[in-house]
Amino acid sequence: MIVPLLIPIGFLVHFSGAENEDVDWANVPSQNVDDRIKINPDIKLIVSSEEGRITNGKIAEPKQFPYQVGLLLNSDRGKSWCGGTLISDQWIVSAAHCAEGVKSADVYLGATNRTDRSEVGQQIVKVEKDNIFVHEAWDSERLLNDISLLKLPSPVELSDYIRPAKLPESGDTASYQGQKAIASGWGRDSDTARGASEMLRWIEVPIMANNFCSVYYMGNVKDSNVCINTRGRKSTCNGDSGGPLVLADGSETLIGATSFGIVFGCEIQFPGVFTRITSYLDWINQKTGDSRH
Ligand SMILES: *[C@@H]1O[C@H](CO)[C@@H](O)[C@H](O)[C@H]1NC(C)=O
Repeated sequence: MIVPLLIPIGFLVHFSGAENEDVDWANVPSQNVDDRIKINPDIKLIVSSEEGRITNGKIAEPKQFPYQVGLLLNSDRGKSWCGGTLISDQWIVSAAHCAEGVKSADVYLGATNRTDRSEVGQQIVKVEKDNIFVHEAWDSERLLNDISLLKLPSPVELSDYIRPAKLPESGDTASYQGQKAIASGWGRDSDTARGASEMLRWIEVPIMANNFCSVYYMGNVKDSNVCINTRGRKSTCNGDSGGPLVLADGSETLIGATSFGIVFGCEIQFPGVFTRITSYLDWINQKTGDSRH
């Protein structure tokens, strides 16, 4: 049998069958990871026994990533977990593969320990289907246009814990190649982790050239993607989908939304692939209109 090694897979954690509000975070079975995107149902996630740890990241301090949101997504298939980025007091950027078919989302704002309901600064706001916008050209087979927007029912009060990231300037054509960027999320913190992480984690990593990245994914990386180099096993992983990639220059400029990686694991140093925000600025502006400003 020829093993198709190069299977890109969306970085979402799916909790099938968890219908009640209280997800048992510690016992999310790993075989349910990623079953929202069945690119090849015969391929199972290979769980590596290697030691590892977002993988190999650091635990975030409170207020370190005020633009980070967590999304507990409710659909007919149960619940799943994704990340997102606050881009104004009312709008969140995430991935299309997170928002597709979703009936409602619990948006975690200002959180570090997402299981701690009494955490200072943390708020959970429900967003209904009518305020969840998946890109019209989302292609779940080729993972193209993997971007969505969620609109909070009313503007959130900004604080040291909850504050939007900046969008790049329109007309910014920088490739970012070689620049450092920060990815963050509550995704699985190792290839052996059973579910998403309790604590928000982050990594600082170099941006990889698109043409180099595309070789790993047999041409499935497009101009509308941006890739990170995952040397040292620092990578995005399942549950980080939709979440932020920002420039590490202190500007908190959002350049990517976590899109996909490779089915065989997050710690095998395959590049992490993101939706490139500059490719979608017009779409974001069109959807959010004046209400973003
Ligand atoms: C996160 O919050 C939960 C619930 O309050 C608590 O049991 C757990 O110890 C916290 N984790 C950390 C690492 O502080």
